[in-house]
Amino acid sequence: MADTLTNKKRRSADVDDNDDDDRTALVLKKAAAAAAAAKAVHHDHDEREWDVDPAASLANARHEFGEHGGVNMSIEASATFTVMEAETMRRMFSGELGPERDFFIYSRHFNPTVLNLGRQMAALEGTEAAYCTASGMSAISSVLMQLCSSGDHVVASRTLYGGTHALLSHFLPRASNIATTFVDVGDLEEVGRAMVEGRTKVLYVETMSNPTLHVADIPALSRMAHQKGVQVVVDNTFAPMVLSPARLGADVVVHSVSKFISGGADIIAGTCYMWAIKPDKLDDGPASGAPDDFGAHHEC
Ligand SMILES: Cc1ncc(COP(=O)(O)O)c(C=O)c1O
Repeated sequence: MADTLTNKKRRSADVDDNDDDDRTALVLKKAAAAAAAAKAVHHDHDEREWDVDPAASLANARHEFGEHGGVNMSIEASATFTVMEAETMRRMFSGELGPERDFFIYSRHFNPTVLNLGRQMAALEGTEAAYCTASGMSAISSVLMQLCSSGDHVVASRTLYGGTHALLSHFLPRASNIATTFVDVGDLEEVGRAMVEGRTKVLYVETMSNPTLHVADIPALSRMAHQKGVQVVVDNTFAPMVLSPARLGADVVVHSVSKFISGGADIIAGTCYMWAIKPDKLDDGPASGAPDDFGAHHEC
């Protein structure tokens, strides 16, 4: 049976350290070339400056080749993955072998293509990690339901995308007993007054609101929220590459990838970005460390 499988790693009984080394060497070589190119373009910037430039971060992000050496990564369409040795399965379920070493169990946890998109998105926003979800609303719901429990409270901008407003004003109070107070985020005093000590877990804003384009003062809002022990979640759908909320103080950034990031109006997808994953605040998904909602949905 093994003879009929074409994947090199699977043929070599799941674990082949030489294969791993070759792959790592190729990735490092490519990253070094990309870094040199970025430096040549940004020669007048100092290290710190171009480190925080989203375009340079993207150029320096880990590059994945296609399965057969393609310049672009192959699209992995499988929901589940092949393992040839029972022992490999044990090592995967114990967490010893995981996506970072190209071992995948199930695409709702991790899928090679979606994982790679997450790496690119994390580079774009300058965060530690990014997880891709099936839509922007799925990213927003996953984050809010991770950060809030029944009885908790959210302070949110009055000017939000309609779907998010509906989630906060109708669905979350009814289904999860999570209440929201909507405020003018331009009025810091009003924002502060709305926060209830011990109950308010999240301050939720859009960098530039949809559709009124109200711009939030993320540094000032983050300072105030953090003084009160509140986490700041920012929807950066309208300003990728322009503003980096995580660098301005936000704890979690979300995107509807369906807009500027996809660009062609043919994709529904979302991303949540973690600036610094705090294990006491964000629970792990099953065996994966990811929110339990994965996979971009491509509508062609
Ligand atoms: C600012 C903003 N956030 C979130 C969403 C929801 O994203 P999706 O349609 O990908 O679920 C939208 C959609 O229009 C949006 O404009």
